[in-house]
Amino acid sequence: MSSSEASAKMKVKAAPVITLSLVFILANFAGLCVSALQEGFYRGKCGVADVELIVAGVVTTRFFMDPTIVAALLRLQFHDCFVNGCDASILIDGSNSEKTAQQNHRLRGYDIIDEAKAIVEKVCPGVVSCADLIAIATRDAVLLGGGGRYNVQTGRRDGLVSLAQNVSLLGPLASVPESIKLFAKKGLSATDMVILLGAHSVGVTRCSSIKHRLYNYKKTGKPDPTIDPFLANLLRSICPQNSSVDNIVNLDQMPLGPLILDNSYYKQLMVNRGILQIDQELATKPCTRKVVRKLATSLDFPAQFHAAMVKLGAIEVLTGKQGEVRRHCRARNKPSSS
Ligand code: HEM
Repeated sequence: MSSSEASAKMKVKAAPVITLSLVFILANFAGLCVSALQEGFYRGKCGVADVELIVAGVVTTRFFMDPTIVAALLRLQFHDCFVNGCDASILIDGSNSEKTAQQNHRLRGYDIIDEAKAIVEKVCPGVVSCADLIAIATRDAVLLGGGGRYNVQTGRRDGLVSLAQNVSLLGPLASVPESIKLFAKKGLSATDMVILLGAHSVGVTRCSSIKHRLYNYKKTGKPDPTIDPFLANLLRSICPQNSSVDNIVNLDQMPLGPLILDNSYYKQLMVNRGILQIDQELATKPCTRKVVRKLATSLDFPAQFHAAMVKLGAIEVLTGKQGEVRRHCRARNKPSSS
């Protein structure tokens, strides 16, 4: 074979390889444009300070004072990410900001993010977003709550808008079909939804969110037929029909339930001991029941929950030059400092 023939043959062979590489580079680039989140985004951006370690210190100290912060932070991240994406818009104070919306009235954990932000700002001013602090703090809380550790992605920027009327989160009467629709709008599947609802294995609700299930469900004069009768009796004693006191009810009725993030939530659903309407419906609706059954009986919950939390944390994020890095999580930057 002459040398010109050999080089022509090599060119023909190389062409698809080059095309493939180009496609790969372009796809990656496009991917980066869609979401530039990455693990360890702050590595090297704050000198020798380790941002994730600082946040872990704050969350751990708070956890030992009050282990219910695990539930608080999980719900905070969910309520942030589902409104305008994970942009810390939930943290902004104001007479009509997201936190004033009815669905957010009992949200907790704002002060934990404030504390982490104050320390981080001292060692690394204007670099670490409040949105990332929520994601990092929640990851640490999951670990402390016994849910295992996942690598958290960072690189989010903070949003500029926070309005109560943007809050379209569902309340205690939410059904599975309408919840699936809402999650789909955020790019999450019904399976993602069932896995994320595993967060209800920690934390509490109030009688006002479940009374409709206990006395006159759908005007039948009886409790919701899908509640275990023993549980219904117990809940009725905690939540008397005509009492105006809004008592606390654990979302997971196992003895250590409300403090440990595990698959006991799904086990409870399988025996009709779900507390919120959405919880029990997951086990009764055919479209979600299979996933509930699988999670109740497998050891897979932590890994699945970690993956779903990473997905939740990537919803409609602002990156690059979008948004801002707020200096105080509760207020937009003044024009001169942004
Ligand atoms: C269809 C979706 C969901 C609905 C309808 C829903 C509804 C609710 C309701 C009604 C409460 C009780 C609030 C109260 O009475 O104060 C609650 C609590 C809670 N939710 Fe959800 N939720 C959903 C999804 C999620 C997700 C995806 C997460 C986290 C990943 C989450 C985490 C929590 C936690 C941890 C609590 C307890 C909060 C505390 O103890 O302060 N929820 N949820």
